[in-house]
Amino acid sequence: MTRKRVSFNQIVYKSAKMEQIIRTAQRIANSDMLVLITGEDGTGKETLAQAIHYASDRSAGRFVSVNCAALPDALLETELFGHEKGAFTGAVYSRKGKFEQAQGGSLFLDEIGEMSPTTQAKLLRVLEEDVAERIGGGEPIPVDVRIITASNQNLLQEVKEGRFRQDLYYRLKEVHLDITSLRERKDDIPVLVDHFIRIYNKQYHKNITGISDAALQFLMRHDWPGNVRELHHVIKCAVLMNDSQDMIWLEHIPLDIHLAESARKNEDSSETKADELLEILSLDEAEKRHILRILEFTRFNKSQAANILKISRPTLDRKIEKYQLHNIKVQEKMNA
Ligand SMILES: Nc1ncnc2c1ncn2[C@@H]1O[C@H](COP(=O)(O)OP(=O)(O)OP(=O)(O)O)[C@@H](O)[C@H]1O
Ligand SMILES: [Mg+2]
Repeated sequence: MTRKRVSFNQIVYKSAKMEQIIRTAQRIANSDMLVLITGEDGTGKETLAQAIHYASDRSAGRFVSVNCAALPDALLETELFGHEKGAFTGAVYSRKGKFEQAQGGSLFLDEIGEMSPTTQAKLLRVLEEDVAERIGGGEPIPVDVRIITASNQNLLQEVKEGRFRQDLYYRLKEVHLDITSLRERKDDIPVLVDHFIRIYNKQYHKNITGISDAALQFLMRHDWPGNVRELHHVIKCAVLMNDSQDMIWLEHIPLDIHLAESARKNEDSSETKADELLEILSLDEAEKRHILRILEFTRFNKSQAANILKISRPTLDRKIEKYQLHNIKVQEKMNA
């Protein structure tokens, strides 16, 4: 797979927290310091690792990435170290491992916390002796590779609980960059939104000029469990789904974000019930208003509304009839 070169210019932020991280990363990029990057899923660990690689004098070499959680232990070892012909059944050819492929460049070991004790021991040996051996013997091969590791878990905790070697941990984290979750640096959201709008305007030949205040406020309230990757997908969808060719409005924000948000609101409101004003409504009136809200939200897409309300289409039709809700739609159209 060919990879795009990522530079620090493509990492977008405004928060002081990110600025601090990027400043440190830029300072150590062109050195042989080993870097450990931690952070939740989607916070930009691999992006930062690439920026560090391409800002270093190793940028002519390759940035090779291996996800340690994606392969069973024996396969991971073969992947990293390669093998000689005949090393095991099926090893018809000899094969270079990732250490050799990354010669002169950087090797990114993602989800390092998932690495087994045996592979951890082998990795430590590479770091101590600057050589790697293919599986099945052969000469030790000198390796000139900078290792950048990442983890979405608390690696120190893994060390304390005996699952990760302490000596290896301290070797790998000569520099530790801990990327803050997006919910703790929400001031990055507006610049990230603009950044992703620009990218997808270009890709989808659109001309979206920005985001409405209400839609941005809504994004600022969301918790972003999937961090920047989640925001990236939301804006990608919003641009793609947008026929208005002007702005991203609330209605372009994907349904699952709305649902997550209303679930959160429900949780909040059950805690603060005592503070709320009780609306004196009959059950019918409450039902009518709720159905109307959902119909408006789905822009009168009845199948979608029935889905959200967890009732059948015919039941929804009966209720629309009962509360005369189609008249409201007609009225809306006339006002539009
Ligand atoms: N500060 C940023 N500026 C621009 N794009 C960003 C930024 N942070 C993350 N991204 C984008 O968010 C997405 C996720 O980033 P990346 O894959 O680097 O995260 P990750 O921490 O490695 O995620 P995972 O733990 O899920 O592997 C990518 O599309 C990346 O381009
Ligand atoms: Mg990643």
